[in-house]
Amino acid sequence: MTAAPARLFDFIGGSEGTWRVDRIGAVTGDSLPAAARLQVVEAGGATEPTGSAWQLRGITSNERYVERSEKQQLLARQPALGRPEATRAALIPIRKNAAWWAMTQDERRTAFEVQSRHIAIGLDYLPAVARRLHHCRDLDAPQPFDFLTWFEYAPADAEAFEALVAALRASPEWAFVDREVDLRLSRGA
Ligand code: HEM
Repeated sequence: MTAAPARLFDFIGGSEGTWRVDRIGAVTGDSLPAAARLQVVEAGGATEPTGSAWQLRGITSNERYVERSEKQQLLARQPALGRPEATRAALIPIRKNAAWWAMTQDERRTAFEVQSRHIAIGLDYLPAVARRLHHCRDLDAPQPFDFLTWFEYAPADAEAFEALVAALRASPEWAFVDREVDLRLSRGA
């Protein structure tokens, strides 16, 4: 039997880790404390966090909004994490407001895709950007964010990534975001 893929991840800001923190800043609401490096570890794994300033936890989950045709396009285009050339990364923790969570699933899908075209916009940036979405609301302990979004890309695609983030932040979906922190990271020489 092969082991199930890891789902629960910790993002640990501090003095250690593969990823160097190039910048950290609040987009909406409070920022996170400064940290020089970031470790991304499977929660409960072998790596004991050392020198940590803060720790965020999230879990991968089933998709909520993707429709079949979108899923096919995503599967055809999305790259895996950990590509050697993808030496830049972004960790963007996001919280949405009570109005978002008070909507029904079909209302959220309308805001997310019909009005905001989140998936359609995102697809334009594949396969340059690899991503993993972590949910925080399903964890037992209360978390400061609802989502931990993680992206990896090559330095040559850094400008494209900025355009992607700007397009999403200008969309109606982002009116529901009440806390957002943007960390940019790099690894290697
Ligand atoms: C690389 C291009 C991107 C693609 C292809 C993409 C695609 C997706 C898809 C398919 C989902 C829905 C998953 C589901 O059905 O539950 C999603 C959710 C989400 N994405 Fe993106 N995305 C991209 C970039 C981004 C960026 C740059 C951000 C942050 C600035 C972001 C933030 C989010 C958030 C917060 C959610 C969860 C929304 C919710 O459940 O309320 N995405 N994304």
